[in-house]
Amino acid sequence: MFLKNCWYVAAWDYELIDGKMLARTLLNENVLLYRGDSGEVIALNNRCPHRGALLSDGRREGDDVRCMYHGIKYNKDGRCLQIPGQDMIPPKLRVRKYPIVESARLIWIWMGDPARADRTLIPEYAPLHDPKWRGLPAYLHYDANYLLIVDNLSDFSHLAFVHTNTLGGSEEYAYVTKPVVVEKQERGFRVDRWHMNSEAPPFHKKVIRDKDARVDRRNHVTMLIPGIFYMETTFTPAGQGAEKGNLENAREYRNCQYMTPETDRTTHFFWVYLNNFEGTDTTISASLLDSLIEGFLEDKAIIERQQKTLEEDPNFQMLGILADAPLAHFRRVLDKLIQAEQEPPAGTVPAAAGAAKQTSLA
Ligand code: FES
Ligand SMILES: [Fe+2]
Repeated sequence: MFLKNCWYVAAWDYELIDGKMLARTLLNENVLLYRGDSGEVIALNNRCPHRGALLSDGRREGDDVRCMYHGIKYNKDGRCLQIPGQDMIPPKLRVRKYPIVESARLIWIWMGDPARADRTLIPEYAPLHDPKWRGLPAYLHYDANYLLIVDNLSDFSHLAFVHTNTLGGSEEYAYVTKPVVVEKQERGFRVDRWHMNSEAPPFHKKVIRDKDARVDRRNHVTMLIPGIFYMETTFTPAGQGAEKGNLENAREYRNCQYMTPETDRTTHFFWVYLNNFEGTDTTISASLLDSLIEGFLEDKAIIERQQKTLEEDPNFQMLGILADAPLAHFRRVLDKLIQAEQEPPAGTVPAAAGAAKQTSLA
């Protein structure tokens, strides 16, 4: 069960280059994404309503798409334009169209009621629109439910054990740091975590000159419905008073991650890791991308195995510890929103089950 009336990331813009017809399952629905000749990004249900062939196997014609089974052509709104050999076009012969917004290289999709698709509900993030922040966009596929990835990002004590030699730096991180601020919000939470007077973690050491200097490290996390993660990371020389606002000689990062359910047990994971200090040295972005992939593969291994253990015993009940407070809050908020979406408006009668197998379109 997924929340439908909200924006999800469907793709990065680079995935739609060269007229590519991208077939992507989102929330268990097969969607076709492409950029038309007008430049607009178009999302249609990927199943031709005639006999169910895949439109992504079809041919893009300007902003339109032609199913290459019997040649029926649809426009960017999913309306049928042409049936070879038949003049009359039945109004029912149309493909579902999904609202799309392209913003800061991200392609956002609305999988719910199109009438409720309001672009101001996109959780925009200022650094993505600011050229001083640089980074290379990337994608990973997970064989795990997206909420397991949200859980993972909700508790940074895992940095110490999963990422000791990559993103974390030491097991000490889990013992000596605590989330100092946990702010529960209507559609998510914020967590602040400081690690004072510590060694720089390996991914950061690779892109700085003074590799032995001690640092004060701050991770400030924001997690938003349906699975959107933004994190400010600041490294400052140890002891200079960063916690009181002194950011002199700071090295900063902005981490953006988007979890979009593919199916009940698989996830599309989009991310970009931004820095504001590389200047013209693009090797810094390249190094950070390498480090993040290395780190995320560590998460992926553990989370995909966790997915399997959970599937093996559906009666297994997870037991909470204090650090789970943010993720427990997130799941409560999400459950409420999903439940509200499922409840039919007062006074309506649920539709009868069952559907006709075929409707005559002649
Ligand atoms: S299945 Fe698409 S035109 Fe027949
Ligand atoms: Fe991780």
